[in-house]
Amino acid sequence: MSESMAGLKRSHYCAEINESLLDREVTIMGWVQHRRDHGGLVFLDIRDRTGLVQTVFNPQEDPLTHEKSHDVRSEYVLALVGRVRRRPDDMVNPKLPTGAVEVFIRELRVLNEAQTPPFPVDDHSEASENVRLRHRYLDLRRPSVLKNFVLRHRVAKLTRDYFSELGFLEVETPVLTKSTPEGARDYLVPSRTYPGSFFALPQSPQLFKQLLMMGGLDRYCQIVKCFRDEDLRAERQPEFTQVDMEMSFVSQEEVMEVVEGYMSLLFKEILGETVPSPLPRMTHDEAMSRYGSDRPDLRFGLEIVDVGAVLKDSQARVFAEALNSGGCVRAIRAPGAGARLSRKQLDDLVALAVSLGAGGLAWLRLTPEGFQGPLVKFLSREERDGLIKVLDAKPGDVLFFGADTPAMVAHVLGQIRLRLGEELDLVDKARHALTWVTDFPMFESDPLTKGLTAAHHPFVLPRDEDLEFLESDPGRVRARAYDLVLDGSEICGGSLRVHRPEVQDRIFRVLGLAPEEIKGKFGFFVEALKYGTPPHGGCAFGLDRLVMLLAGAQSLRDVIAFPKTQRASCPLTDAPGEAGDKQLEELGLQRSKLK
Ligand code: AMO
Ligand code: AMP
Repeated sequence: MSESMAGLKRSHYCAEINESLLDREVTIMGWVQHRRDHGGLVFLDIRDRTGLVQTVFNPQEDPLTHEKSHDVRSEYVLALVGRVRRRPDDMVNPKLPTGAVEVFIRELRVLNEAQTPPFPVDDHSEASENVRLRHRYLDLRRPSVLKNFVLRHRVAKLTRDYFSELGFLEVETPVLTKSTPEGARDYLVPSRTYPGSFFALPQSPQLFKQLLMMGGLDRYCQIVKCFRDEDLRAERQPEFTQVDMEMSFVSQEEVMEVVEGYMSLLFKEILGETVPSPLPRMTHDEAMSRYGSDRPDLRFGLEIVDVGAVLKDSQARVFAEALNSGGCVRAIRAPGAGARLSRKQLDDLVALAVSLGAGGLAWLRLTPEGFQGPLVKFLSREERDGLIKVLDAKPGDVLFFGADTPAMVAHVLGQIRLRLGEELDLVDKARHALTWVTDFPMFESDPLTKGLTAAHHPFVLPRDEDLEFLESDPGRVRARAYDLVLDGSEICGGSLRVHRPEVQDRIFRVLGLAPEEIKGKFGFFVEALKYGTPPHGGCAFGLDRLVMLLAGAQSLRDVIAFPKTQRASCPLTDAPGEAGDKQLEELGLQRSKLK
């Protein structure tokens, strides 16, 4: 039977109860974490958002209340009134902020009962993630889960304050809108008033923030939900949050300065760390050739080095073939890996390279007696010496080679580098490494259609000096686009934008969009560009990713209160669900017969 809390008012949160309140009467409200019955005395640990405090029920002092405490179970919701006392010396718990005191209870009210929870609500619980997400409201009661949301709140507050102080206006943009291409599939919402027509949920507010610049708002920043129907990984969610911003009349440098100030604030306030100023920068070309990735993890070395010059006359077929057909040979030196990688680990690395599309992964071990490995017999003395020199190789090291097109070598050695970093335990997880990657290509070729797609989105400004190649050689056009990478994760992407209608039109055409298609998809935007659009640019942070990395969490699901699973469903609500016949009829939709 539950009771009313009428007449009671919480005086303190649990974690606030300490020796400064000795002999004072306090009223606390919270959940039962744990109940211990010592024959005479009953102890209840009470939990609220702030932490735990121990309460005591003594039959001598208050027999009725003591009696009542026997019926209380885990997760019951209680209001308790009592006096703060010092714990006996041998009962002090130095691990708890409230561990020097306990509250002797004179009044207990059971505000609500609880069924036995499907898993213990504490940080030791090892329930499966699916069960935890099904009962997320119980999971959120656990301190280790809750703490990420406290951190997320602090990041959001710092974000709003920072951008507001710099003159950014927070403006909300529509959720029911037209497609904004960011490279993923759209989530569509059928329209009842226009049967057969659909809204798209925004993949980002990209077009609207540009329209706000056209509207003269000058500086905009919004913490905003975005929706992308894409294949999910640990660092992707179908519904995620961006810190989205845009500025007028700015250079790339000015946007980067605002971002660097933001990073330096977050790192100082959240982690107590100083970030380098300015942040390191590298071009996309450099990132791809040195790290094999456009989001290099700089917490460790293992750089990729071009060894083509050393092997230019090589007798080894794999090297010669790659070099003669315009490809490249590059290598990674894994220091001291000779003694640390077993034959099986080496074979697994080769298998990884093959699974990524490589013809193989040649390797050489350097021992005090010289090189060992499958290709040794093809290497001349000069080549061996040359490799030692350019790679700075020492006995005990293992060298890994990729021979193929530059793109394939980057793709393969980039992954091999990450795997070696993990296996040789080279990634200093206590450290953070931020870097800009700049000068992205404007276009990528789509492996399926062989046509061009926008590497980022179609509104990115090409570099002035590359504009002339837009139609003749689009592959060489670089963009005024920049990503910020934290610990190997892309946390922010942005660019300067096209503000001249004729350039925007040329880009759409290079992307193969017919005039009718341009009109249908972006007509409103192309028209807006014609009414005096200021030069502008901006970027968007993945807030979930940023919070995940700042919290040291493993998955975006740990920093999203009600996340979706890898299969894009919600275990708590069972969304997505079926729609009823009447709803479908109103929307002018029919169930597929294939289902
Ligand atoms: P972009 O597509 O790079 O840029 O997205 C910006 C940032 O959002 C994060 N992000 C995601 N986080 C979680 N789950 C996802 N599915 C997901 N997809 C992206 C990443 C990424 O860096 N409109 C442009 C920005 C601009 O040009 O101003 C945009 O959306 O951290
Ligand atoms: P093969 O000549 O195919 O027997 O390969 C000889 C060695 O070169 C083996 O160790 C292969 O794993 C490796 N290898 C084959 N193709 C490549 C490639 N494209 N890049 C790097 N190593 C390769």
